[in-house]
Amino acid sequence: MLQTFNEKNRDLIVSVGGALLPRAEAKVSVFDSLVQGGDGCWEGLRLYQGRIFKLREHLERLRHSALAMGFAEIPSADSIVQEIKRTLAANGMTDGVHIRLTLSRGEKITSGMDPRLNQAGPLLIVLAEHKAPVYEKKGLRLATSSFRRFPPDCLDPKIHHNNLLQSILAKLEANAAGADDSIMLDLRGFVAETNATHLFRVADGVVETPRTVACPEGITRATVLELCRRNDIPHAERDLSLAEFHRADEVFCTGTMGELASVTSIDGRTIGSGEVGPMTQRLSGLYGEETRSGGEQVA
Ligand SMILES: Cc1ncc(COP(=O)(O)O)c(C=O)c1O
Repeated sequence: MLQTFNEKNRDLIVSVGGALLPRAEAKVSVFDSLVQGGDGCWEGLRLYQGRIFKLREHLERLRHSALAMGFAEIPSADSIVQEIKRTLAANGMTDGVHIRLTLSRGEKITSGMDPRLNQAGPLLIVLAEHKAPVYEKKGLRLATSSFRRFPPDCLDPKIHHNNLLQSILAKLEANAAGADDSIMLDLRGFVAETNATHLFRVADGVVETPRTVACPEGITRATVLELCRRNDIPHAERDLSLAEFHRADEVFCTGTMGELASVTSIDGRTIGSGEVGPMTQRLSGLYGEETRSGGEQVA
């Protein structure tokens, strides 16, 4: 699942602060808050046949993050949608597209951490790329990381911010272990999520996932729980230990970037039959129906 360069993305047009720029010129200032401190928040969106799935939920999470980070101004949801539409139109994009939406605190008058050095408003970046779901669907291998996910009193995971170093360090460990991704525990030793996705397990027909104590309020996660509710599939949100994942019948991960992806090995243990399980297949099918029929028209 190492992504490779897609030739279709060579001549991308990117929106930076309202300017539509060719890929090579799409840059931020060295004084931008993202460069100075990873001081921004972001969303990953996916475009299906001209429609963005769960668009309003993503924009709401972006607003929640910006509010928690005390941004002086937050662009309205409608103005962000307009900028997304402009960017997609400039690229002639309608399907198979992933959009990385970033809201930086903006440019500073001098280098430094203090948000009072920000005397101009936030900076919105709309980066749309041709990108199919990135996760291998036949079964991922995970390895547990030595890095823990923060609880809310260290850095609240309900803020979807650009400080990705904790995830990157965990990903380095996964790479070194020959795994696809890392499992990250919370400070109490319960499973939080992977370095980039939420985790679910299936045991005795019950679909279970950790509470959002040390992982973001995932939109794909919420969709899967909603699909369970609507289809009378027993489900629960609770503290889950690593042993409960090791002995599960099925494990899968979720995220906008890769949708639902089966996990067939954790820390060298084969999960269930070692194949994509029936509940994972069923929920993936239901999720596919949602993305085919739902979403807001933008292109
Ligand atoms: C750390 C982390 N976990 C999980 C997810 C998946 O969340 P969602 O389903 O909202 O895409 C993301 C997505 O950005 C993430 O950054």
